[in-house]
Amino acid sequence: MTECEHLSATGIDRTEGPGKVWRCDGCGWLHRSIKGDDGLSRMVPVDAPVPAAFAWPTNGHLIADVHRLGYITDDDRVLDPTYGLGRWWTQYRPPDLVAHDLNPRKAPDGRSIDFTRTPYPPGSFDVVAFDPPYKLNGTSTEAVDDQYGVAGSYVPWQERHDLIEQGIDHLATLLRIGGRLLLKCQDQVCSGAVRWQTIEFVNHAHEPDDEGVPITGLRLVDRFDMLGTSRPQPSGRAQHHAHGRPSTLLVFEQTVDHRQGRLM
Ligand SMILES: C[S@@+](CC[C@H](N)C(=O)[O-])C[C@H]1O[C@@H](n2cnc3c(N)ncnc32)[C@H](O)[C@@H]1O
Repeated sequence: MTECEHLSATGIDRTEGPGKVWRCDGCGWLHRSIKGDDGLSRMVPVDAPVPAAFAWPTNGHLIADVHRLGYITDDDRVLDPTYGLGRWWTQYRPPDLVAHDLNPRKAPDGRSIDFTRTPYPPGSFDVVAFDPPYKLNGTSTEAVDDQYGVAGSYVPWQERHDLIEQGIDHLATLLRIGGRLLLKCQDQVCSGAVRWQTIEFVNHAHEPDDEGVPITGLRLVDRFDMLGTSRPQPSGRAQHHAHGRPSTLLVFEQTVDHRQGRLM
């Protein structure tokens, strides 16, 4: 699903100012014109059901829908250990948000905190919003890489995956039973092969103990595929795999009580 194709086809005047909404005769939903990070405006439904796959204009709009669906509520204590530029919270910001980053320039409190070793005891949070450096270094484009926190020296994809899996293990312990881990990642072509991050990270989170219970306690309950976020195919290279994979927000629910020392 992309922007409303019915409204786009009508050539409707979108310059009537913010707050203006249009009911579409084609799909029946109310729409608003929203400008994305790419500077383009899109007719985006405002009262339609939250879709599983969509060209949300920004991550902030995706998170607003995640909130609309109840995976983050105003009553939740929320940890964002990879705050970056804080773009997840441009449309909805939880009242009780604790935010960190490894990079002290980006951390709201100016401290460097590693998401694999935060200072919090088990069960401290209702929600952990984890946006790790999942973009794999292929051909480097520094400006974009800096936003994703992967600029600088080349890091092999296995090393990046190990780091993210260590993050999943630690952050899972910080959730109370019923708490949610939001994990952003993306299936990507890197060094000639597809790295199926969505599958790898779900498999890691679900890895069972001797009794068949996931060691992390996490259970996948939802996923959102955000269309239209891939960088262009490098020029002059033959294409071997489908291009333009969505980035994905996985939602896990915590099913065990880590205060008993599991995974510690
Ligand atoms: C994809 S960006 C997050 C973007 C952020 N959600 C936003 O809205 O701007 C990844 C972030 O993780 C941070 N990071 C990388 N390794 C880290 C680690 N081990 N611990 C904590 N933060 C880390 C980077 O500095 C970068 O800001």
